[in-house]
Amino acid sequence: MTTASTATDKNRVIIFDTTLRDGEQSPGASMNLEEKLRIAQTLENMGVDVIEAGFPIASVGDFEAVREISKTVKNSTVCGLARATKGDIERCAEAIKPAERARIHTFISTSPLHMKYKLQMDPEKVFEKVKESVTYARNFTDDVEWSAEDGSRTERDFLARCVEAAIASGATTINIPDTVGYALPHEFSDLIRFLYNTVPNIDKAIISVHCHNDLGLAVANSLAAVDAGARQVECTINGLGERAGNAAMEEVIMALRTRADLLPYTHGVQTEHIIKASRLVSTITGFTVQPNKAIVGKNAFAHESGIHQDGMLKNAETYEIMTPESVGLTESKLVMGKHSGRHAFKEKLKDLGYDLGDNAINDAFVRFKELADKKKDVFDEDIVALVDDEVLRTNDHIQLEKLEILCGTEHQPPKATLSLNVDGNVAECAATGSGPVDAAFNAIKELVPHEAILQLYQVHAVTNGTDAQAEVTVRLEENGRTVNGQAADTDTMVSSVKAYVNALNKLIDKREKTSPDALSA
Ligand code: KIV
Ligand code: ZN
Repeated sequence: MTTASTATDKNRVIIFDTTLRDGEQSPGASMNLEEKLRIAQTLENMGVDVIEAGFPIASVGDFEAVREISKTVKNSTVCGLARATKGDIERCAEAIKPAERARIHTFISTSPLHMKYKLQMDPEKVFEKVKESVTYARNFTDDVEWSAEDGSRTERDFLARCVEAAIASGATTINIPDTVGYALPHEFSDLIRFLYNTVPNIDKAIISVHCHNDLGLAVANSLAAVDAGARQVECTINGLGERAGNAAMEEVIMALRTRADLLPYTHGVQTEHIIKASRLVSTITGFTVQPNKAIVGKNAFAHESGIHQDGMLKNAETYEIMTPESVGLTESKLVMGKHSGRHAFKEKLKDLGYDLGDNAINDAFVRFKELADKKKDVFDEDIVALVDDEVLRTNDHIQLEKLEILCGTEHQPPKATLSLNVDGNVAECAATGSGPVDAAFNAIKELVPHEAILQLYQVHAVTNGTDAQAEVTVRLEENGRTVNGQAADTDTMVSSVKAYVNALNKLIDKREKTSPDALSA
């Protein structure tokens, strides 16, 4: 978090997280209000300085999310995105009003290509818009960030003029995005140095960078920019974001921590929270993390080859440049069995970073007992899946009452009989399909007719063993609205149906809140 002492530390890098804005722009990565609040809470707890909570003009859902996050987050600055128009800026100002520290982030494209084809404006018109938008935003908050969209492909002299004008108009942060992930590290650092050496009032603002990963260089470009003087890095958890994504926060901060010898910069993020944040974002969005992904991949700290294992046993530093503990990876622990008490369970939740009310603890405890009856060993990961499953189920119009599946080599075709409670009315039906999942989903469609298209059906085992819980993600799309449903259960078919039902509940919720043609930046 930016405090009086850190603000004076010239080597302090501000970590600006845009998982909830740029991250959510990844096709399929949509999140509902409760999910965004949970992620914002996690980001605040980890010490992120600025949380870009959304693009308030884009939809009612975005506006509400930014406003609710502004009400709950106390230590991080809450930021909303706005194009260079009065309407955008006013809507953004309204959404961030409740925040203790509020930022308006306004942007306009400055590259010849974007000005000509996207904006259809000549450079002088864009230049005027820069001044107008920043000046207008300053009526609502002292903390205004201005971004030159497609900054890395902008003519340098024009970029320097715009930056100078934005600062003179009151921008306190100047963001230079590599919007299309085109820059190379030495080229990008040279651009940042050029701005430092050319813009006369540059010392009045913090330079920020926002790098996309189209060439896999987002983190490298961000770090090169920091070395050239940038003091804010915009990034996302797991590198989520448009196309190939944004710079991954976990990679940026672990590079700063691990290579402090050559990167002598400080930041306020507690790296031990990384794994929790990564898992939360992955569960909510259904975007699984590839096993070999740096820092947060399942294999990032696994040592398979005999030679490596031997070296590790002799001295962990032979093959480990950072410890698993430094990113919050603890050994998979056996938690408790069915005889464990409520008090021990409550302590375990605290250890895992959950701060739940009494009712939620009671509900989770009942489910824990049910799980311990079905599954011999209950691990930390099981508790996380179980609590997430519980917390993510809110305002359910539709609930699963009963499910029976008939399938296998002797039964043709597979058949699902299920009953659902829809707003208090219980109805049952049976349907067939090409497999048990297809049959069950067909039965749901008969009971709750809808046109949504199934975009993703994904199953992953929470732990090892055939009695592992199956964590299922179902992504549905209807008229441009996308939702992700999740559920976990030791019975894969039960979690599949619950995940589909969860997605339908979210869709119903979303129908009420968003217009189908929601904008993205
Ligand atoms: O990539 C980009 O240029 C952006 C801006 C809106 C900052 O996301
Ligand atoms: Zn972006």
